Amino acid sequence: MIPQNTIDQIIETAQVDEVIGEFITLKKRGVNMIGLCPFHNEKTPSFTVSPSKGIYKCFGCGNAGNSVKFLMEHEHYTYPEALRFLANKYNIEVEEEQRDEASLEEEKLRDSLYIINEFAQKQYTNNLIENEEGKSIGLSYFKERGFRQDIIEKFQLGYAVQRSTDLLEKAKAKGYQVDLLKKLGLVTEKGNDFFRERVIFPIRNLSGKVIAFGARTLKSDKKIPKYLNSPETDVYNKSKVLYGAFLAKGPMRNQDECYLVEGYTDVISLHQGGIENVVASSGTSLTPDQIRLIKRYTKNITVLFDGDQAGVKAAFRGIELILEEGLNVKVVLFPDSEDPDSYLRKIGSESFKVFLAEEAKDFVLFKTQLLFQESKNDPVKKANLIQEIVTTIAKIPEPIKQSLYTKECSTSMDVNEQMLINEVNKIKRTTLQKKLKIDEANTPKIDGITTEDHSQKELNANEVDVDYQEKDILRLLLAYGDKEIEEGITVTQYILTELQEVGLETKLYKEILAEVNTTFQKEKKVLDNSYFLNHPNNNIAKLAIEFASSPYELSENWEKMHEILITEADSNYKKDIKSGIMRFKLKKVNKLIAENRIRLKELKPDDDYMTILKVNKKLEEMRNQICDILGTVVY
Ligand code: UTP
Ligand code: MN
Repeated sequence: MIPQNTIDQIIETAQVDEVIGEFITLKKRGVNMIGLCPFHNEKTPSFTVSPSKGIYKCFGCGNAGNSVKFLMEHEHYTYPEALRFLANKYNIEVEEEQRDEASLEEEKLRDSLYIINEFAQKQYTNNLIENEEGKSIGLSYFKERGFRQDIIEKFQLGYAVQRSTDLLEKAKAKGYQVDLLKKLGLVTEKGNDFFRERVIFPIRNLSGKVIAFGARTLKSDKKIPKYLNSPETDVYNKSKVLYGAFLAKGPMRNQDECYLVEGYTDVISLHQGGIENVVASSGTSLTPDQIRLIKRYTKNITVLFDGDQAGVKAAFRGIELILEEGLNVKVVLFPDSEDPDSYLRKIGSESFKVFLAEEAKDFVLFKTQLLFQESKNDPVKKANLIQEIVTTIAKIPEPIKQSLYTKECSTSMDVNEQMLINEVNKIKRTTLQKKLKIDEANTPKIDGITTEDHSQKELNANEVDVDYQEKDILRLLLAYGDKEIEEGITVTQYILTELQEVGLETKLYKEILAEVNTTFQKEKKVLDNSYFLNHPNNNIAKLAIEFASSPYELSENWEKMHEILITEADSNYKKDIKSGIMRFKLKKVNKLIAENRIRLKELKPDDDYMTILKVNKKLEEMRNQICDILGTVVY
């Protein structure tokens, strides 16, 4: 654990333009610096760095944060790693005190595991160069497959010899603990090498450390498994790793595209053919963690399928997960009994690239056509097909894409478009309601006001509106918190008091308000927007950046929605805050009135009619008061 005061010191010292300038070229533009965004593909710079605020923001893709966040995004450092990098750069001493025993032990263990894996990898690789068996069996196998020397080295390929304790003995001689070798699956419980007479494919994590091995037999005996893989360990979590990801990081980002294949050898062959933006799922179905790993570099995935139809349909589920993450998916089907590796060798890398470009089909359309072929003259099958397709489309997060797909699919399946749209909406509604129930169950009700069971309509119109109002109040609070709104009363005091009765609804805003409140009550200190810029909660920092970097963005939306004008001028903040709060209260009261009316309409036997009526009257009074202040007419 890095002590908080050291973290503060690091963040205060780090110069965002210097830090980012190490990785990308920045040019001065007014008070800011600009450059080409490293997080998405662009030709004109929209990546802006503000040295005075200590933040960056890309107006193209929305990526934003401070120095620490940049390092986490760009270099894929963890939070502590990014802090240590900065501490090192600015010669700030980090004393690692107060770390609990357990986490120290864990880290020591992980370090040892990395070291032993690296040792094993070197050993296996060495066998290809120096060991007679390794050379004549392992190396000649790779050569026969057509792997070039530079590619063999790039992938650190190796060979495990036949002698049953070869690795074990060499490891012991080096002083490595046998327990750890067993833990890594390199040595069996009985004390023999686990990988023997196999060629070795080391698996590396995103920073290039060897975390596991895949090992292919060279025998054609069907009874022994073709590949053996390392077990899961403290450094190897299968579901989070993609083979080839370390080498594909840059290429995926540069090409803004990722090819997903099934096997180790597919990745290697494509590299040899000059295609480096490729990763393998290693024969298992894709997990959400793996998809998110890709998503950090690109939003476009092309899945390359081995040439058998059964495999394609089995992979549909995995692909729908990719859609749910909001990525664009294309698929390429290879000819019968070919996989990317064999096909590339067959037709050569230039033709292979052409093949990929020509054969890549949009997944949703591909699925539609494939299922449509099968259901042509069968109405029951066709009904199922439609259900399948709308379920797929409903998973896509972007409405624009959804409507494109409903259009396309209605044409290709020859069904009414409106019918498809209705079906998609039905599924979306059910999913949303389920999600709402879960969220409701997880959100403690802090204020006296509970908002029970929103109907669908309310959610669309009202919720968005309240969100904007809450956001604007928060923006004003963080911008003018220490200013006076009335004699002797600061904006912070005013807003905290006013919101005590009604409270905010949005979880994120609530968290910020709670922090402002606690600090104010405890230390009489006013937290402002710049404090939240470096907040460890990423979503909070993001919001603060939005407030800091584009002061008019919100107001414009606000204007459009309400056809009123909000000015940023200092003289107006008092009015803005007061009317903002009043409008917010009005919304809340209206909502309560509506809920109360429903209760009146649907009276239950043990409801107290008189009380409900009284509440109604009280609420209406409140509403009139608020409207008086606001000068608005109620209808
Ligand atoms: P394949 O059987 O397609 O192998 O399995 P491959 O990669 O094309 O290998 P070659 O070309 O025959 O040498 C695809 C992937 O599935 C995993 C491996 O990751 C493999 O690369 N797999 C396969 C296993 O983990 N165990 C197995 O027994 C088979
Ligand atoms: Mn193959």
